[in-house]
Amino acid sequence: MFFVWYSGRRRRASSRFPPGPPCLPAIDNLLAMEQFTHRGLAKLAKLHGGFFHLRIGFANVFIVSSPETAREILHQQDSLFTHRPVTTAMTYVSYDLADMAFAHYGPFWRHMRKLCVMKLFSRGRDLSWRAVRTEVDDLIKSLAEQKGTVANVGELVFMLSTNMTLRAAFGARSQEDEEEFVAIIRELSEIFLAFNVADFIPFVGWLDLNGINKRMKAGRRALDVFIDRIIDEHIAKWKNGNVSAADMVDDMIAYLAEAPGTDTREDGVELKDLRLTRDNIKCLIMDIMFGGTETAASTLEWVMLELLRSPGELKRAQRELASVVGLHRKVDERDLEKLPYLRFICKEVLRLHPPIPLLLRESLQDCTVSGHAIPRKSRVWINVWAMGHDEKHWPDAEAFRPSSRFAVESADVDFRGGDFRYLPFGSGRRSCPGIQLGMYALELGLAHFLHCFDWSPPDGMTPSELDVDDVFGLTAPKAVRLTAVPWPRLSCPLF
Ligand code: HEM
Repeated sequence: MFFVWYSGRRRRASSRFPPGPPCLPAIDNLLAMEQFTHRGLAKLAKLHGGFFHLRIGFANVFIVSSPETAREILHQQDSLFTHRPVTTAMTYVSYDLADMAFAHYGPFWRHMRKLCVMKLFSRGRDLSWRAVRTEVDDLIKSLAEQKGTVANVGELVFMLSTNMTLRAAFGARSQEDEEEFVAIIRELSEIFLAFNVADFIPFVGWLDLNGINKRMKAGRRALDVFIDRIIDEHIAKWKNGNVSAADMVDDMIAYLAEAPGTDTREDGVELKDLRLTRDNIKCLIMDIMFGGTETAASTLEWVMLELLRSPGELKRAQRELASVVGLHRKVDERDLEKLPYLRFICKEVLRLHPPIPLLLRESLQDCTVSGHAIPRKSRVWINVWAMGHDEKHWPDAEAFRPSSRFAVESADVDFRGGDFRYLPFGSGRRSCPGIQLGMYALELGLAHFLHCFDWSPPDGMTPSELDVDDVFGLTAPKAVRLTAVPWPRLSCPLF
């Protein structure tokens, strides 16, 4: 009787939901989990439309790839979709959502966001921008040393963006520290991505079926030890009055409840009521590592892949650089604004390969979207990848065409969240606070790559033989690291 009552109730409720694939009783769409990648969900959208419903275990999941529905959700006046759905692992590792990226929307999140936007990621924080330049120079040096041989571009850009984020966050660190921290972050990111049955059927959580609980405890312990040491070093530096160029930890310690420092940057921005704990600092650093590392690295790797596959576009970008900068010096940041074609290339790659393919949201209350019911605590996945590949909005969507899509003024598509066909940085209150820093790293890194070197595919491969597969996770990097051969092209020394 319970089963009949429960099925009837479910049928009545789901008749008000948007359409979706049929569910099996009790296990629903759980068996089809492997289809729920950005590509699989884009295929399902072709069958069920730009707004459809899935039932996964006990969770209602709504998939959106229609720009109109995305606008309705992301710019909801009542902030109904400003929470992110969090998994057991995310909650545990973020000390019960004491960070910003996973924290529920509310006064605490607003404080953290202010700290990030006004202090940590602001243009006034010269050290972060300097960190990008230093690491790009180091990378060019290492590529120049490998001239004429096969370089692992994928690994090099991953190290570039990890090192610049680490340098901006902690100041300069030893090589061992960098390696230890990268290992911790890689393990945590695997834990976040691992499928955990307990997230969809909570009462089996205690069984720890795939060993996630054990791994997340060990991961958080390692993060604790590492960052506690860094915080202690920074506090000691404060006490000795030994702070010159403030890194992000210095900026956060200014607000640490247990031992407040002073804000070293004279930017006139005060965050009077902000008090942080060590846990807040630890998981903010984790947010910065997750938010800033893989996103910029995977975009840069995809750009290089697309250019190697389209030698004509690569030559055009190099011609632009040669005419603006000349071949007798390296490019510098003042040149960037005179390189519109370079920006079109970045925009086109962010359309074809958005590093965060699904934007994740959770509904705060029962509500209605595009005429359909969405119950409280439903998950909403906005498929940015599907939107960027939709032929309705992007004719010949699979082709890499920076010039024809973005080079005409009328097609100057906004990438900051104002054009709902194209959301590489998200949109609305939870959009990316690191856009400026991310774009700077991307454009400066790419400008150096293209200006300092000519590039050819490895081992006599033709451009069409290069591997183009991606993998699905919180981000969508290339499945196989890109390799290519750099040939110096400037008349000046590269380092
Ligand atoms: C090419 C570079 C980057 C891309 C494409 C990118 C993209 C994104 C996207 C799509 C989101 C989710 C937005 C939403 O849900 O609406 C996001 C959030 C976030 N990003 Fe970025 N990002 C980049 C670089 C960075 C950098 C450099 C940082 C920091 C140093 C950063 C920090 C964050 C943080 C902390 C959040 C969470 C914001 C919140 O929940 O309030 N990102 N990013």
